[in-house]
Amino acid sequence: MNPDFPEEYIRWQVSYLGHTIFVTHDVLIPRLETEVLIKRARKILQNTHIETILDIGTGSGIIPISLRNYTAWQMYATDISPEALRIAEKNFRYNLDEKQCTFIESNLLENIPNSSMRTPLLITANLPYIKNEDWENMSADTRYEPQIALFWGEKTGFELYEKLLYALAERHVNTAILLIEFWYDQLQNAQDEVEKYGWKSEVFSDYAGIPRFMQINIDI
Ligand SMILES: C[S@@+](CC[C@H](N)C(=O)[O-])C[C@H]1O[C@@H](n2cnc3c(N)ncnc32)[C@H](O)[C@@H]1O
Repeated sequence: MNPDFPEEYIRWQVSYLGHTIFVTHDVLIPRLETEVLIKRARKILQNTHIETILDIGTGSGIIPISLRNYTAWQMYATDISPEALRIAEKNFRYNLDEKQCTFIESNLLENIPNSSMRTPLLITANLPYIKNEDWENMSADTRYEPQIALFWGEKTGFELYEKLLYALAERHVNTAILLIEFWYDQLQNAQDEVEKYGWKSEVFSDYAGIPRFMQINIDI
């Protein structure tokens, strides 16, 4: 057995925030730092009235699964990969009632109808943020994970988030909170982009104290 082969793909499952999450080569192995984003989302759900949760790039579904009991009126999970969506749905069904979440195959917001975006909205996104050329510098175990989950963009790696912010502005989404996770060298990119739209933001850090997350308040 290749020592770089991720153990998670041998057992086909991981335990994440108390949930059993099935993983295949179609989904990213959930990362510890994403817990930080989830915990922030839970706090928001406890303290703010939210009608809709929308998780973009859901992968194995860990974010919506970890948030479902923190109630919002409706919940959507999307991914560009139909294979990943199948795993997310399976995980939802195993841990909760899958009817509590609607799964939509979509490139960012493309297939999400306006009627699904009932506000106030909480949007979570852990999108691919490693630029394509960094593929070679990644640890060998990531080669077994889907490239579409990790790599996007030629210049900064932040480009898919740029597209998402643009799409939200274009759809005139307001009264929304967006939580994003990004790479350790993208804080400035994130701040510059948010400034373009005049939205307020707050940065928060991973367990190592590195600023890797942003809460963006879109006219709330
Ligand atoms: C970094 S993984 C995150 C998976 C999961 N949310 C997590 O935190 O473990 C990124 C996910 O975004 C999806 N994705 C990539 N490009 C996308 C796009 N343009 N629109 C929607 N989802 C996309 C990938 O298929 C992958 O499942």
